[in-house]
Amino acid sequence: MATHTFSLPKTAARLERMPPYGFELINRRIAQLSAAGADIIRLDMGSPDMPPPQPVIEMLQRSAENPNYHNYGSYRGLPAFRKAVADYYARRFGVQVDPDTEVLPLIGSKEGIVNLALAFLDRGDAAIVPDLNYPAYTMGALMAGGDVILMHLDPERNYAPDLQALRQHPDLRRAKLLWVNYPNNPTGATCDLDLYAELIAFCREHDLLLCSDNPYAEVVYDGYRAPSALQVEGALTCTVEFMSLSKLYNMAGWRLGACLARREVIEALLTIKSNVDSGHFRPIYEAGALALNATPQSWIDQRNAIYQARRDAILAACPSIGLSAFKTSGSLYVWARVADGDDTAYVQAALEQAQVSLTAGSMYGPAGKGYVRISVGVEDSRLQEAIARLQRWYANWN
Ligand SMILES: Cc1ncc(COP(=O)(O)O)c(C=O)c1O
Repeated sequence: MATHTFSLPKTAARLERMPPYGFELINRRIAQLSAAGADIIRLDMGSPDMPPPQPVIEMLQRSAENPNYHNYGSYRGLPAFRKAVADYYARRFGVQVDPDTEVLPLIGSKEGIVNLALAFLDRGDAAIVPDLNYPAYTMGALMAGGDVILMHLDPERNYAPDLQALRQHPDLRRAKLLWVNYPNNPTGATCDLDLYAELIAFCREHDLLLCSDNPYAEVVYDGYRAPSALQVEGALTCTVEFMSLSKLYNMAGWRLGACLARREVIEALLTIKSNVDSGHFRPIYEAGALALNATPQSWIDQRNAIYQARRDAILAACPSIGLSAFKTSGSLYVWARVADGDDTAYVQAALEQAQVSLTAGSMYGPAGKGYVRISVGVEDSRLQEAIARLQRWYANWN
């Protein structure tokens, strides 16, 4: 019998449209450097370094002890968690949603962001994505076979979208989704309710679904209170909002979030999700519901005071490390312009020579060229050490 040499089937063409995830590349290089003995301080990831509220951890432990909680759950998640999300929106934003038909739990909001694109975009359709964005908006559109229309954000107007320019875009009629995110990753820019009202009017006029990605709503400084897009009168007609417990309660590793939208959108998303995942582990929903129902505002305020002090330390250090920063009142990031404009060279040299990892602005879109993003999600003494290293390194760089 003739011998056959196995050839691995060729991967799908969609992979060719998808560049490797930026953090995957950073992680690989950091792993190499660490294996060679380097002590890298990571100011790149937007991952909270502090733990969730203690009662939430205890609830997870108690709930996991229940022998009946280890089977498959409902595709729509635990009703008590959906209700906790709806109650939080009512309390915090004065927004009323039906927990059974207008809330869908997610395995982290990233999952829902990508699956929403699969639910709405066909080949030839497009998603409007801010030029400076969390990469999942783009990746979801590309996975769905759709295209991306980049939307300019105006730094002179606190990184608000330039809707005038968008109106003139030749492909606007192909668009179905319009993504926004305030408090913003990567710039830290915040917005007020008027901006959401303007966006909703635009989306109504052009038959677009406004996708408001709002994971940093409670990561705010200087007394700022972030709104929800759903606060605009009648918003639910054309708006989807994603919320997440990752940054809200320092639960990034738990992978828990939710989508709030009108029934038809929830059903479309559920059709994709129920064929991909089978919901979350019940103890995670129970602990998540407790976090939403019982965490006092003082816990959030104390956590934010720590982030704010770190933000201030980074802002104060920026001039001494060749950066000029944009002052932020929200998110986990400081966004800063590099003195000579080459963000990639700056970030590479900081990693290789100062052993401090930052992210290059270009990772977030063409408008990020010349900027770096610095995360406040690192413990105080490590942050001080990172600043000192960057100052020593920058004094001798070039
Ligand atoms: C703007 C934005 N949206 C969504 C996410 C995803 O969050 P989650 O942990 O809920 O998947 C992140 C995570 O960093 C983010 O920065």
